[in-house]
Amino acid sequence: MMQGIADFSKGLKRTTDSGRTFSERNNPMSALQSCLTIDDLKRLARRRVPKMFFDYADSGSWTESTYRANESDFQKILLRQRVAVNMEGRSLKTEMLGETIAMPVAIAPTGLTGMQSPDGEIKAAKAAEKFGVPFTLSTMSICSIEDIAENTSKPFWFQLYVMRDRGFIERLIDRAKAAKCSALVLTMDLQILGQRHKDLRNGLSAPPKFTPKHIWQMATRPAWAFGMLGTQRRTFRNLVGHVDNLADLSSLSAWTGSQFDPTLSWSDVAWVKERFGGKVIVKGVLDADDARLAVANGADGIIVSNHGGRQLDGAPSSIQVLPEIVAAVGGKTEIYLDGGIRSGQDVLKAVALGAKATFIGRAFLYGLGAGGEAGVTRSLEIIQKELDITMALCGERDIKNIGAHTIYRNGLVGN
Ligand SMILES: Cc1cc2nc3c(=O)[nH]c(=O)nc-3n(C[C@H](O)[C@H](O)[C@H](O)COP(=O)(O)O)c2cc1C
Repeated sequence: MMQGIADFSKGLKRTTDSGRTFSERNNPMSALQSCLTIDDLKRLARRRVPKMFFDYADSGSWTESTYRANESDFQKILLRQRVAVNMEGRSLKTEMLGETIAMPVAIAPTGLTGMQSPDGEIKAAKAAEKFGVPFTLSTMSICSIEDIAENTSKPFWFQLYVMRDRGFIERLIDRAKAAKCSALVLTMDLQILGQRHKDLRNGLSAPPKFTPKHIWQMATRPAWAFGMLGTQRRTFRNLVGHVDNLADLSSLSAWTGSQFDPTLSWSDVAWVKERFGGKVIVKGVLDADDARLAVANGADGIIVSNHGGRQLDGAPSSIQVLPEIVAAVGGKTEIYLDGGIRSGQDVLKAVALGAKATFIGRAFLYGLGAGGEAGVTRSLEIIQKELDITMALCGERDIKNIGAHTIYRNGLVGN
């Protein structure tokens, strides 16, 4: 595959990346700095990341109705404007699991992140560390747990998929422990993979196919292609060398496709927690009864999430169900939300409805695709600035004072 990229890239006199201004072409940093919104970063990422990997991020399952609702339902919540309130000395600082963070935002675990940008997980982890927000590494990452530990100095979080091969899962948990991960994020909503049409049409199924079409997509993104040639990190490095008789991307993909465990149960939360010996956040809860079960089985935190609209299409948006989950277990555990966060205003609305903090998936992936580590930093800066100004215009100086009074209650959530 990489040889194919090299051949195409060598022969390429100029990119097909049309539509860029002269200054963007000659100064990628200025293109990044001219991005004022997450949507701007998305447009830039589309031009810099090969189509099959850009589509992998920008897709939901089946009709993508839940994917769309995650974003659009935020627009239905209105903010309460207050005036003549002292707005000096504002603070967005809060805590997640007792750790102080710069703002109520963490980086969500995303698979194949090292395909959005070479060494993508390392770049995102570094940006998060410098910014002072948590970074979560996916089981299905390109860079390994050890890669992140070697390239960062603060503890990060590791997301675990429970697979049939429990011996492998035990070793994975032990590796996260050895790397001093300060929490495990246990994903419960992917016992079976949702169907994403774009991935199937692009041939990103397991195992992935590399046809001339794919090689062309990569070669027409020469900066990406050369970056990929310059790194050894091009496969699922949490798995390679740790699973017997698996050595390359396609066989690893086939293995993972058959490995997600359809028998996953609530008792596995306690099992994982005991093996890890640290805090466990349960990810993928959309129902109040499931939230109660998560708490009863030892969850230290819950992420209200529909996997970014990638699993059960037709399920409600995360923000829609947040209030009922807060009502069910809000006093007993920390509640976070992900799904559709594209601005600081979305973060504020989630906090107003009871989320202690939020996770961002695509918002940071678009930044990463647009400009690597600097792009992830840009996405965090954009969200931080929007959150700060919105909070001020709502008449608050401390994110910890944001609550139900900050929004109108007759909007989407109706309670
Ligand atoms: C490209 C992509 C890959 C993802 N991979 C994983 C994963 O490996 N593990 C996981 O728990 N969630 C995964 N997710 C879900 C995210 O953790 C998160 O729930 C979702 O992205 C939040 O929605 P948002 O992208 O609208 O912010 C992935 C999401 C995307 C977009």
